[in-house]
Amino acid sequence: MYTPFQLALKYIRYYVKADNGKGHGVHSPFVFDLIQHVMNDGRQFYSFEKIEGVRVDLLKNNRSIAVEDFGAGSRVNKLPIRTIQKIAHSSLKPKKYSQLLFKLVHYFSPSHVLELGTSLGITTAYLATANASSQVITMEGSTEVAAIALENFQQLAINNIEIVTGNFDQTLAITLEKLAKVDFVFLDGNHRYEPTVRYFEQVLSKTDEYAVIVLDDIHWSKEMEDAWAYVQNHQAVTLTVDLFYIGLVFFRKEKIAKQHFVIRY
Ligand SMILES: C[S@@+](CC[C@H](N)C(=O)[O-])C[C@H]1O[C@@H](n2cnc3c(N)ncnc32)[C@H](O)[C@@H]1O
Repeated sequence: MYTPFQLALKYIRYYVKADNGKGHGVHSPFVFDLIQHVMNDGRQFYSFEKIEGVRVDLLKNNRSIAVEDFGAGSRVNKLPIRTIQKIAHSSLKPKKYSQLLFKLVHYFSPSHVLELGTSLGITTAYLATANASSQVITMEGSTEVAAIALENFQQLAINNIEIVTGNFDQTLAITLEKLAKVDFVFLDGNHRYEPTVRYFEQVLSKTDEYAVIVLDDIHWSKEMEDAWAYVQNHQAVTLTVDLFYIGLVFFRKEKIAKQHFVIRY
């Protein structure tokens, strides 16, 4: 993974290069609408406060649990026994991007949502409350972490989530086999080139041209930047949006030439 200094330099480069996030210079009606109706949607939805309340509790929780390590890991945690607060500090997507996931699901209304990387369930809760009629499947390798996520879903009274525990390397194929299709995918686990590309290819078997795939941490490491480049160059991909901490991937066929946008968020 890049050092904090390298990451800061990359962020500055992104910020300078990016469209200003108002949409005026963007010559794509689809992306213009995305900026206006999703990225710049300032509404505070009903579930936001409750989910952020759970995050605050997790950040204060010093109970220790055993956590299996699944590869790329995180910057701070090396030991198999970790406190919940440390996991919450290092693994969870910040509020701004978690709420963007909510807004994306709210806007596109996918019926089947798949998340790789539940952790304590914060982004899952956002994905699930954005559209009560969608079915959310979230996948997590660490059993004790998944158990806490489940407690959080119960506390938030969310009923449209199924958690699949186990290594994605085994569970993803079995999960996809049972699904007719997937319309929205959040890839947020195992941030290395080979597995990221492999999971991306696997989920493509169940997506159509209206699917949305969100990749997390696309500039986190050289491997993730290479994985992002692979996705951008994929023959099925017609449009991508780089928001630095996440990347959005679209397959809509009405796009004539492949387009890649970099937008401030
Ligand atoms: C960054 S965290 C997910 C954070 C969560 N989406 C959020 O922001 O609320 C990534 C999670 O993926 C899990 N993970 C990573 N690689 C995995 C693998 N190969 N199989 C199963 N789980 C894995 C880790 O245990 C970790 O909990």
